[in-house]
Amino acid sequence: MPGPRRPFVPDNRRRKWVRNSSTQFVFHRETPEIIGRAPPQKIYADGSSGMREFQHIKKIGEGGQGRCDLVERKGDGKYLVYKQMKVEVDMIRSKHRNKPLEVAILKDILGPSERIVRLFDWTHVSPTNNCFFFEYCSYGDLYNMIDGYHNNQGLEIPESFVWHTYGQLAEALTFIHEGRSRVTTVDGDRIGWTTPSEDHRPIVHRDIKPDNVFIRPGKTRDHYPEIVLADFGIATTKLVSCQGKGDFCGTMAYQGPELPMHSRAGDHWAIGACIHHMTTGTPPIRKVPRGRSYKTWVLKSEARKVLDVTRRGYSRELDDAMYKTLRTRPEDRLRGRALVESLERAVARWGGEMIYLNPWWQGSRP
Ligand SMILES: Nc1ncnc2c1ncn2[C@@H]1O[C@H](COP(=O)(O)OP(=O)(O)OP(=O)(O)O)[C@@H](O)[C@H]1O
Ligand SMILES: [Mg+2]
Repeated sequence: MPGPRRPFVPDNRRRKWVRNSSTQFVFHRETPEIIGRAPPQKIYADGSSGMREFQHIKKIGEGGQGRCDLVERKGDGKYLVYKQMKVEVDMIRSKHRNKPLEVAILKDILGPSERIVRLFDWTHVSPTNNCFFFEYCSYGDLYNMIDGYHNNQGLEIPESFVWHTYGQLAEALTFIHEGRSRVTTVDGDRIGWTTPSEDHRPIVHRDIKPDNVFIRPGKTRDHYPEIVLADFGIATTKLVSCQGKGDFCGTMAYQGPELPMHSRAGDHWAIGACIHHMTTGTPPIRKVPRGRSYKTWVLKSEARKVLDVTRRGYSRELDDAMYKTLRTRPEDRLRGRALVESLERAVARWGGEMIYLNPWWQGSRP
């Protein structure tokens, strides 16, 4: 799909604003480049020579397991996200001893993909803490975008960007589930799929929601920003996992009605739920009635409510496409390559114009 012609806010305009911070993190030079050989490391704050240096820019997020900071590598000015997390007991202990499962998944099992957040490096900071260096997706997460459009600006997200997001999320799932990426010509024509690498094993993400979908600037100024699946903190190699009642993981509002089961079909429900949230302002779930507990309510079929997006001015084609991943029975949901190809045909049938994203949104982050 061709992109809009108007340029997005260039990154260098934002640089000036963030360079002034005086806080410094300094990392030991021996922080390994090669993922998987991480000896225990300390972070130093004394700025002594022989240390690799990063400048702290700002805190960008905090979640259940840790916090994320934006740092600048002083040598080349590259921005990275430094994420600190408590050590999880859930590691692949045999082949990937002492390696957090998220690292094993991103580096050893999945490998690189345009649709997955890039992990550069990781190390132990202390026996109970790990830190990771991720690529910085400078347009933030999809939740902030939705929130900005619907709540602050009172605007609808352009339909062309909703299709773009849906297509790229479907590609991300095809990659993590099947190990296949879309192959395109330089002109952007889709000509096939890659074959999975030998090391590939299917991964179920289990926590897809707008907060875990990041956005990076497009390849050129003439293309839409790219959609990136992130936060593999509770991803698993188990194709079907059951967390048991009262022991849910992830965010239930974006998970299928088959809860507490998690599977590849559940990941597909979750991307449909993200599209629902982008178009209607809410995930496809009703409010909890008074006096009911959320955990028991989400298991009821009446808790699910898929709104008709044509009422918000979106097309019938988009409504039909969204419903392909929001079918109640997991086995009825369209998946993987079939979904990607079906979305490509649907967007061609829709045939609408590419609409520029609102400039306030892209300029809102450093
Ligand atoms: N690489 C990145 N680029 C841009 N923003 C990021 C990046 N990593 C994290 N963030 C921001 O920080 C927030 C939290 O990050 P992340 O999802 O990785 O952490 P978490 O501890 O798992 O959070 P949660 O438990 O809430 O999912 C994200 O929603 C995003 O806004
Ligand atoms: Mg997260």
